[in-house]
Amino acid sequence: MSDPALETLLLPIESEIIDLADDAKVLFQRARSGRALSILKKADLLCEQSFAPDRDALLKSGFKVEAETEEGDFDAVFLLPGRQRQEARAQLARAVSKSRDGGFVVACAPNTEGAKTLEKDLADLLGRADKLTKNKCRVVWEKVRPDDLNNTLIAEWLELDAPRPVLGGDYVSRPGIFAWDRIDPASELLAGLLPDTLKGRGADLGAGFGYLSRTVLEIAPKVSGMDIYEAEKRALDLAKENLSAFKGKRNMQGIWSDVTKGLEGPYDFIVSNPPFHQAGKADRADVGQGFIRAASAGLRPGGEFYMVANRHLPYEQTLGECFGIVNQLADEGGYKVIKAIKRKGAR
Ligand SMILES: C[S@@+](CC[C@H](N)C(=O)[O-])C[C@H]1O[C@@H](n2cnc3c(N)ncnc32)[C@H](O)[C@@H]1O
Repeated sequence: MSDPALETLLLPIESEIIDLADDAKVLFQRARSGRALSILKKADLLCEQSFAPDRDALLKSGFKVEAETEEGDFDAVFLLPGRQRQEARAQLARAVSKSRDGGFVVACAPNTEGAKTLEKDLADLLGRADKLTKNKCRVVWEKVRPDDLNNTLIAEWLELDAPRPVLGGDYVSRPGIFAWDRIDPASELLAGLLPDTLKGRGADLGAGFGYLSRTVLEIAPKVSGMDIYEAEKRALDLAKENLSAFKGKRNMQGIWSDVTKGLEGPYDFIVSNPPFHQAGKADRADVGQGFIRAASAGLRPGGEFYMVANRHLPYEQTLGECFGIVNQLADEGGYKVIKAIKRKGAR
């Protein structure tokens, strides 16, 4: 599958505008795997990736991957920033702080996702910035020259995506993760329909900062424990913090993984507000369909799956194939809430 932002990011290397030594020490923040990355194969490349599906793809292609590295002094730092402005700025400031003096910072964004701002932001941090546009994306880069650095802005932006209290102090969250400073209306609709009779071992697929898991634990005293699945480690770390009041009282496990690759289980019930797109890709209902298949495989026979989705998403066929009974509990505000029960006798 093509990844225009990744291909454009590496253009300054491919066209030899930036000349890196063969054994250059390179950091790629928010790295994604793809054919274009082979241009860095001789470099001493470290990929940073906290999103499990991208981490898995990089590992499969043989790259070295860490969720977040302590290392610094890189000859070049590449970055595919997130869409959220505060997070993107924090990532850019971090890229600058990870580069050695005289090293390069290179970042790229699609034109529709803040490419112009990215160029201005890099120039604000480094004094100036070069650019190239291709594939409806803009790549921007500059050398880190200590005399031109805006150190005050770097320090300020580094803090922009730091964890902080949100929702009146009820939760801790940080910019960049899903609906970071609010309760998502779809999740709220699902939460309001979850029965307080839920019991046994449960799981939350794509738990974000932990709202649905916390709701389950708060309303259903017979729930013995929750496994919290989340692909984004930064979100999972927050979910653990937001559920810390239940630590030692219920069994809890945070699982940093791609849910579509399967669950531990077997579970008595599963709740989920599945994602419907992934960075760098068009909206993909197949991720949500993968969640439904994983939920079905992870439940015990007779186990219950509660999910919410945008009403236009094509999940009915997959639900019908995977579950014995499928009921729509609500159709409100553009969302549908589904309860599906796994066939008794099913594996
Ligand atoms: C629609 S959000 C729901 C978040 C949270 N449950 C809530 O109600 O606010 C979907 C979540 O799934 C996570 N996610 C995306 N792809 C995933 C995958 N393949 N495996 C596990 N989690 C994934 C996202 O990081 C995001 O936090």
